[in-house]
Amino acid sequence: MYTQPENRSKTEKLSLTALAKMKAAGVKLACLTAYDASFAALLDQAGVDVVLVGDSLGMVIQGHATTVPVTMEDMIYHSRMVERGLKRAFFMVDMPFMSYPTPDIALRNAARLMQEGGAHMVKLEGSSHQADIVRCLIGNGVPVCAHLGLRPQSVHKLGGFKVQGRGENAARQMLEDALLLEQAGADIILLELIPRALAAEITRKLHVPVIGIGAGPEVDGQILVLYDMLDITPGHRPKFARNFMDGASSPRAAVEAYVKAVRAGTYPAPEHCFD
Ligand code: KIV
Repeated sequence: MYTQPENRSKTEKLSLTALAKMKAAGVKLACLTAYDASFAALLDQAGVDVVLVGDSLGMVIQGHATTVPVTMEDMIYHSRMVERGLKRAFFMVDMPFMSYPTPDIALRNAARLMQEGGAHMVKLEGSSHQADIVRCLIGNGVPVCAHLGLRPQSVHKLGGFKVQGRGENAARQMLEDALLLEQAGADIILLELIPRALAAEITRKLHVPVIGIGAGPEVDGQILVLYDMLDITPGHRPKFARNFMDGASSPRAAVEAYVKAVRAGTYPAPEHCFD
């Protein structure tokens, strides 16, 4: 039985089953990235449900222009630190660029993220081409989140950080990919930078939780890069990322405001969405 967060012990570990029950109960999942133990503990205590060590660390921590240079060693290093800060949140870790070109290599690297990094789930950027890899991981007991829409590891192929799934053919393809990856066993689907209406349709058609970033409010949960919502990322903040430090007295208060806004459905607002 799903219990509301306020009725639950703060240290009860969230599981995939609990996340699925939250979707069924219509409770929006509040998710954020973290890269170190201190922020991980802050997020955990502020009620964040899923903490992701994203390969966005290549950009916001390492200062690269893309996530492509991030290595397995980088991911394991940051995962170990984040894992030490978490008591309640479900813990997801990104598989970096070229760590999953075949099912065998994916399995070996996913095992490292779980055994050495402490991950509960791995996330990979995919389309229907990754269905065999998802099947192999799931068949070996590795929970998988499949990331569709803007796939930052493919930025050079996509021609930039652009909205994906616009137009009838692209939208149909993304819906088919999402259904196929769910059928292959993916436990969570993440949609990045796609039209709000398409994200809503995909969410209606899938059974597993759908987490969005720049995908509108009609998904089952939201995720942001922590440094974007704390307004730490240098330069331009993406249109979909609200600055939660605005009006907050501390980073902890900003994260609490984010959790509250996601649960209430007040974030994302229309100005954070794409048509
Ligand atoms: O790497 C990352 O931080 C991500 C989020 C943007 C979802 O994949």
